[in-house]
Amino acid sequence: MNILILGSGGREHAFAWKLHQSELVNRLYVAPGNAGTGKIAQNVDLSLDDFDSIGEFCLNEQIDVVIPGSEDPLVNGIVDFFQSEAALEHIYVFGPNAESAQLEGSKDFAKIFMEENHIPTAGYKTFNGEQIEDAYSFLRELNAPYVLKADGLAAGKGVVICPTLEEADQVLREMLLDSKFGRASSRVVIEEFLDGIEFSVFVMTDGEHYAILPEAKDYKRIGEGDTGLNTGGMGAVSPVPFVDKTMMDKVVRRIVEPTMIGLKKREMEYVGFIFIGLISVNDDPYVIEYNVRMGDPETEVVMPRLKNDFAQLLDLCANKRLNDIEIEQDPRNCTTVFTVSGGYPEAYEKGKNITLDDVEGVLFFHAGTKKDGDSVVTSGGRVLACSAFGQTLEEAINRSYEGAESVKFEGKYFRKDIAKDLMN
Ligand SMILES: Nc1ncnc2c1ncn2[C@@H]1O[C@H](COP(=O)(O)OP(=O)(O)O)[C@@H](O)[C@H]1O
Ligand SMILES: [Mg+2]
Repeated sequence: MNILILGSGGREHAFAWKLHQSELVNRLYVAPGNAGTGKIAQNVDLSLDDFDSIGEFCLNEQIDVVIPGSEDPLVNGIVDFFQSEAALEHIYVFGPNAESAQLEGSKDFAKIFMEENHIPTAGYKTFNGEQIEDAYSFLRELNAPYVLKADGLAAGKGVVICPTLEEADQVLREMLLDSKFGRASSRVVIEEFLDGIEFSVFVMTDGEHYAILPEAKDYKRIGEGDTGLNTGGMGAVSPVPFVDKTMMDKVVRRIVEPTMIGLKKREMEYVGFIFIGLISVNDDPYVIEYNVRMGDPETEVVMPRLKNDFAQLLDLCANKRLNDIEIEQDPRNCTTVFTVSGGYPEAYEKGKNITLDDVEGVLFFHAGTKKDGDSVVTSGGRVLACSAFGQTLEEAINRSYEGAESVKFEGKYFRKDIAKDLMN
């Protein structure tokens, strides 16, 4: 099998790392990739919104499977593009078409879908600019804090949680009337605030059957104790101690099954990953959001814990036979800690020299790195994810920290409290 992975983050490196171990994989490409993927696969200089060039590359290199790492190509219709071109039709793009990708691309679409299928989620209403008076009234029916979400894709910045009504009114105006998030906030979803603890469940589906991958919990804020600005993700753990069998059974029965049935009812022909962002409120799971791809940094703990051959899973999906196999999870704990550029998620410098030694038991997944001559330099905010296993969570996280300490570049920062909240 020849495989092309689209993206350049830790998630894509983790996919490549996993596929590199498979005997079913012949040639492996990552576009555009990073210094880490370049060691185990061939990096290709392709732009992720240039579907024509991606298609042409796939034909020239006889690619069998394309794995889009992030949501953008999916929401922009890469699956529809491949299906509409006779020459590309036979290539399996592992992701949903543009319509189905609306589960992530439009918060309002996802809410309607959940409502239709009686899937537990926060109460909500959606408003456009002309309905701002109704939106003010709706805010007054809710209790603080207030959750305002830009309907469209906003690079993980479109959700604002406001402690007071005054702030909520202000942010609402900025979103609806002043295009705070561009077109993404021309409609705003206002939600009831749910107080609980978050985790994520990952589903793989071939359109007929589904399989559940190891669950994870990520750490989004830049500062310790979950303070400061939101980031792409500073660390993750899998398994999640409070997600026991009872909780997982609830998630499957109340959320995963109705989601699969809902997709069928709408004839959405969904293949690919479904990342379900959940919150446990008094031991009951509610959906915060759907994503139509894997998470980053969650993939950096999920792929290591997946014992199955990932290429075999993809092959089974392509033949709509995912039900032929049981998912096997490594029972050990896996953690990851992201080392990031000083200043991130605000302004930061790039091009810093990175030195990286082997640390026993640590998997380094590259994100914002690139080759510069013979050296490797930083090229993004999140630089390297340090993943490690342990019999206990403590053992795993201590190893991840050994990894994070050993990574050297000017301005390096990482959170020192990943997994701490789960260890008492
Ligand atoms: N209804 C809600 N109640 C409490 N917190 C919420 C709610 N909706 C979102 N959040 C918080 O905001 C974060 C971002 O929201 P989410 O819907 O996942 O948007 P995105 O990931 O697209 O920015 C969530 O991870 C969660 O911490
Ligand atoms: Mg989210």
